[in-house]
Amino acid sequence: MRLILLGPPGAGKGTQAVKIAESYRIPHISTGDIFRKALKEETPLGMKAKEYMDKGQLVPDDIVIGIVQERLQLTDCQDGFLLDGFPRTTDQAKALDGFLKDNGYPIDRCINIEVPFEELIARLTGRRVCKTCGATYHVMFNASSKDGACDACGGELYQRADDNEGTAKERLTVYNNQTAPLIEYYTNQGTLVTIDGLQSIDKVFNDIEDALRGSC
Ligand code: AP5
Ligand code: ZN
Repeated sequence: MRLILLGPPGAGKGTQAVKIAESYRIPHISTGDIFRKALKEETPLGMKAKEYMDKGQLVPDDIVIGIVQERLQLTDCQDGFLLDGFPRTTDQAKALDGFLKDNGYPIDRCINIEVPFEELIARLTGRRVCKTCGATYHVMFNASSKDGACDACGGELYQRADDNEGTAKERLTVYNNQTAPLIEYYTNQGTLVTIDGLQSIDKVFNDIEDALRGSC
């Protein structure tokens, strides 16, 4: 199954991606995670990406497209994959289409998680992430039962650098201007399915499962 997860920052893409990847046994490819890993390892890619991420802006298309194409050529993507946070511009979407066409397989579904903007700021500023395993929590909506530590591995929880209110607002503006047009793009391709992301995490996942049933 070849899937795209679309939605504004904080919609729950990463949260649902973990569940989808496990349930459908496909690799979870998150461009944001790729950049954060590169940044942690202080590679040239990480340093370059940081310039944009810290401001809440998009990393330039040519950098992102090259990275995703390389990743999709690895053998674990042969039977399917889940793209989380890519494509994010019309040029990225066109590049992905071209690449998939050359390789003879199309996208099965683009899952668009919809959440009102007022809710997104609260989700982003309250998010906490495990330093060790990357699991995502929220101080109010999805709290860890261990104080300040990850339920899964006991690792320390931290707040992402771009989850302060100012940068979060900029990311939402960037989403509106540059990524939201992809809703129409994938509607026109007939692959878009929209899910109400304001429900509980489990209910959102149930709706995604329903939407994917029999579709691929
Ligand atoms: P990226 O890492 O992709 O961030 P994002 O798209 O801004 O998305 P988030 O990770 O912030 O949110 P999410 O939808 O995954 O929400 P989550 O599940 O964590 O990108 C970061 C940066 O990298 C970009 O700004 C850009 O600079 C660069 N970049 C990445 N890809 C790029 C590309 N293709 N092109 C150019 N630049 C790129 O949930 C959020 C919170 O809500 C959590 O605390 C969670 O516990 C909680 N939550 C989740 N679901 C629910 C629910 N149903 N109810 C209540 N709370 C919930
Ligand atoms: Zn952990």
